[in-house]
Amino acid sequence: MLVTPIHYDLSFEPIFSNFTFEGKEAIDVRIAKPTNTITLHAAELKIKKCLIVSSGKSISAQTKLDEKKETLTIKLPTKIAKSAKIHIEYTGVLNDRLVGFYRSQYKDKSGKTKYIATTQFEAADARRAFPCWDEPAAKAAYDISIITEPHHTAISNTNQILKKKIGKKTLYKFAKTPIMSTYLVYLGVGEFEYLTTKSGKITMRIVTTKGNSKKGKFALDLCKKLVKSYEDYFGIKYPLPKLDLIAVPDFASGAMENWGAITFRETILLFDEKTSSTQTKQFIAEVVSHELAHQWFGNLVTMKWWNDLWLNESFATFMATKFVDKFYPEWKLWDQFLEDTMNTAMGLDALHSSHPIDVKVNSPSEIREIFDAISYDKGGCVLKMLESFVTEKNFRAGLRVYLKKFSYKNAEGNDLWDEIGKSSKMPVRSMVNSWLKQTGFPLVEAKKQDSKLVLSQKRFVLEQKGSQKGLWEIPLTITHDGKAINKILKKKQESLIIPSNEILVNPGRNGFYRVKYSQDILYDLKELILQKSISHIDRWAIQNDLFALCVSGDGKARDYLEIATSYENEDDYLTQSNVSGNLYALYHRTIEEQYNPEIKQITHQYFRKMFDKLGWDAQKDEPHTNALLRSYVIGALGKLDDEEILCEANSRFRQYLQNPSSLNPDIQDAVFSLVAWSGDHNTYQKLLHLYNKAESQEQKTRFLGALSSFKDPKLLLKTLDFSQSKNVRSQNMHIPIIRVSGNQYGKKILWPWLKKNWKGLRIKVGVGSPLLNRMVSSISAVADNSMQGEIKQFFQKNPTPGTEMTLSQTLERIRIHHQFIKRLRAEFA
Ligand code: BES
Ligand code: ZN
Repeated sequence: MLVTPIHYDLSFEPIFSNFTFEGKEAIDVRIAKPTNTITLHAAELKIKKCLIVSSGKSISAQTKLDEKKETLTIKLPTKIAKSAKIHIEYTGVLNDRLVGFYRSQYKDKSGKTKYIATTQFEAADARRAFPCWDEPAAKAAYDISIITEPHHTAISNTNQILKKKIGKKTLYKFAKTPIMSTYLVYLGVGEFEYLTTKSGKITMRIVTTKGNSKKGKFALDLCKKLVKSYEDYFGIKYPLPKLDLIAVPDFASGAMENWGAITFRETILLFDEKTSSTQTKQFIAEVVSHELAHQWFGNLVTMKWWNDLWLNESFATFMATKFVDKFYPEWKLWDQFLEDTMNTAMGLDALHSSHPIDVKVNSPSEIREIFDAISYDKGGCVLKMLESFVTEKNFRAGLRVYLKKFSYKNAEGNDLWDEIGKSSKMPVRSMVNSWLKQTGFPLVEAKKQDSKLVLSQKRFVLEQKGSQKGLWEIPLTITHDGKAINKILKKKQESLIIPSNEILVNPGRNGFYRVKYSQDILYDLKELILQKSISHIDRWAIQNDLFALCVSGDGKARDYLEIATSYENEDDYLTQSNVSGNLYALYHRTIEEQYNPEIKQITHQYFRKMFDKLGWDAQKDEPHTNALLRSYVIGALGKLDDEEILCEANSRFRQYLQNPSSLNPDIQDAVFSLVAWSGDHNTYQKLLHLYNKAESQEQKTRFLGALSSFKDPKLLLKTLDFSQSKNVRSQNMHIPIIRVSGNQYGKKILWPWLKKNWKGLRIKVGVGSPLLNRMVSSISAVADNSMQGEIKQFFQKNPTPGTEMTLSQTLERIRIHHQFIKRLRAEFA
């Protein structure tokens, strides 16, 4: 860059009466070569004044905004050199699209509408708040001031150093920030309430709207413990004197790691002992941990460019689990990681339309679209695989050097691999790059030939078309008779001499690949599953891979059902939830098929067995995972039309209406949904009323889900229309859409409704919102093969930037489903 920023002096004054703000900035820049034009980023701003001071002279400058490129060009009459200070005065919009500097609305206790102003700058929206070099590598320091109305307070990244009355308003000044990227700057203004604590020298606060700060206790206590733990692990102190966790009523994603001022959706920060579920508690912990990991990995050391976004996100994903697990080992988060992270990643990465982790991106819409299961989940799995390959100790040693070396700077993936390579003295760079630079992941086939074990690799895809490219450096572990062999499989095929029978590939599932065993090996493994003489993770993995092979056409559903019988006496959380999930998927996918009753019966039986162990009510001191499993099992049984469950759900609902605290929050979701499932128009009115009067957002989303669980398509349409009303926040609009897509009775109505409403929907959530991708994905659950052309055409006529890749993934999923059904029909005929 010709001109680079060193320091920003920023002052903001939000004007709530017309949802605008006044901005004033002074940027110190360094100039590499004499120039008379300076170009920086700006969007939706009106420039009032621009003045440049260089070599003691003050020059007034011409400015030109390019709305399309989102740039501001400053033209000067003469060239300037070395350094300058750019002074700009401008106005901007406090928009309602949840990006840039935006407004969020809520009602106070007396029902009065209130606003807060808050920011979301990642990936490329700081330019909507102040002209800047809006790229992660253009790091600078910031001095920020905010002018507010007297009843408001202001928050930014650092601690407040001045509060002063000026006229009727209040001026807040904040301490100079460390050198950092624009996407991490934060501004917040509103009638906030705080829950405060101290941890060593750091002041930690939960920030909420009035009346809610008490619900921040769980997050605040955990935050304190996690920060200490991260400081120890990284060997670097948290560098700011304060850390705020802020609950924002309207928030596009889940949470955002602004340095020292982390923002969250309310449902991901606020925990209410009386009404919140165990699932919510766990989620809060994981997300707090994730955003705290970013304070080092991302904020202190930042990627050079967004192609390495995955490094930020996958690292935080991996660390989030690692650190919450230290405090809550009984939550079994590493088991859950296999299901939520590894399976999610493999589901996407088994598509031809997936993408490499390390991917070229340029425009803001391209950048937004890679915040997906590849960047978060596959990346997280690759890091976990790397850690187990080089050992925890070497991984951490390399990481520490990397963080020290690049503090307050930018880095690339290779910088990290090289440090971990040095600490472990292992070929890390080439191993890792084989997982980063190519799309997909391998299927390892294991076959016995005499006393040899033949291992081969090929790309695992769900849609079969021709032979697949791809060769990975796979860190393999094989156990036989309990002994472990480690090696790197680099070739297409290799054989090992293994005399014994009980062979297990990828034990513990540290490697990001699936395994296909030959029949004889599988035969032995079945016995081990029944006896439970292999670990729960290995029991889980064997059938998990077999099910994936069914979907890809490399295995038979009947064989899967057969092996599922070996899992009837499972008591492990992970295994039970996966087996039941696979059975349910099989049932749900074949609902319109003749042979469905047979599958339904098997599925029902499996869930019933699980339920018999769990029951309706939490047992004293039961495992955490029981609470997670219970609502899922009850919900599924009801949808499998289990009369007893439906009856009890309705009876518990009647009790709930009398006395809300009679219903455990962990089963509320399931109960409300089943009441809808078996309910009519009157039930609808009741649930709608409950939605409208629900006080917390967590409660509201439960009822919104229930409103999407009716059988009557007319009621489902009503819910979809309701999702467009002012009663549903734009951040939650995707909930009914996704829930209706998963409801078999919504199959016919969703796509026509989406088509009719797409224009309005796009405006409501804002083009570029990640929620649009979720809605596009939902189409794969309701469309059949014959609709592909129509869907493609629709999006050609209604282009939705940032969803292009998601659309091809959705179409591919439709084809995969179609092929799967075709094979099932042949099998079950
Ligand atoms: N940096 C992201 C937030 C973000 C997401 C910004 C997408 C811009 C676009 C943050 O660290 C994050 O990953 N948030 C997650 C939370 C997750 C851990 C559940 C999110 O918002 O989904
Ligand atoms: Zn993140």
